Amino acid sequence: MRGIILAGGHGTRLHPVTRAVSKQLLPVYDKPMIYYPLSVLMTAGIREILLISNPQHVDAYRQLLGSGAELGLKLSYLPQDRPRGLADALIVGRDFVGDEQVALILGDNIFYGPHLPELLRAERERLVGCTLFGRTVADPQRFGVAELDSWGRVVSLEEKPRNPRSDLAVVGLYFYDNEAVARAAVLTPSERGELEITDLNRTFVDRGEARMVSLGQDCAWFDTGTHDSLLTASLFVRNLRRREGRSIAQLDEVARAMGFVEGRDGQRTVPALAAPGTQ
Ligand code: G1P
Repeated sequence: MRGIILAGGHGTRLHPVTRAVSKQLLPVYDKPMIYYPLSVLMTAGIREILLISNPQHVDAYRQLLGSGAELGLKLSYLPQDRPRGLADALIVGRDFVGDEQVALILGDNIFYGPHLPELLRAERERLVGCTLFGRTVADPQRFGVAELDSWGRVVSLEEKPRNPRSDLAVVGLYFYDNEAVARAAVLTPSERGELEITDLNRTFVDRGEARMVSLGQDCAWFDTGTHDSLLTASLFVRNLRRREGRSIAQLDEVARAMGFVEGRDGQRTVPALAAPGTQ
């Protein structure tokens, strides 16, 4: 499975902070925001990752993360010439995805849960069609919202509905089989002129090929697109650090724990040639 992190957009809700700076480079407590979604893909065992951002910001990400070799990753970078919507990431990343499955994660989504890595790896194994991850929220109007039937199957998906049919938000992490690339290519722009991820996901729902997995209450999730949510996420990370001594999105530690890099000889970490079962 390949991974794509979408770190584009104008970040208008964070102006003037994001007028000259890419939103996903802003700090969430002690790390750039992008580290968090990157670490989620890593814990899912994904090592080939494409980062998509605005043309003027791509180089900053390359400067920050480089080739990924020190983390046992293969990172690549592509510009999105203008914010065409989340589903456009699969069009920009078409060649990168090739014939593989793909995980798309939004660069401003932060997850933390003790069982999340196992959950993601299990979902990779059983992926058919698309897997969405859901979380109940108090303000579903801000998100993609899923309605489930009594069997837990997704029956409807709506993007930022005024009158949500449920309080189950679809979080910014999506697993797709390769079919998603072709389906993204034929989507038509919504009223706001974007290729909506919800429209792509609906094509899977309509064919009965969408699975919704609840993140559970022990998993924290933040969409850090506003000043308040960014601050809340920073405080959450700080509290974990101060109260429990836990540091999250520590990329070198994740790389070691995942077996992407081997041991420590003095100061050096040696990239593993192969990590069976993690690719
Ligand atoms: C996007 C998606 C929405 C999803 C959300 C998760 O919205 O369109 O379906 O629930 O991400 O963060 P955005 O926050 O980019 O407006």
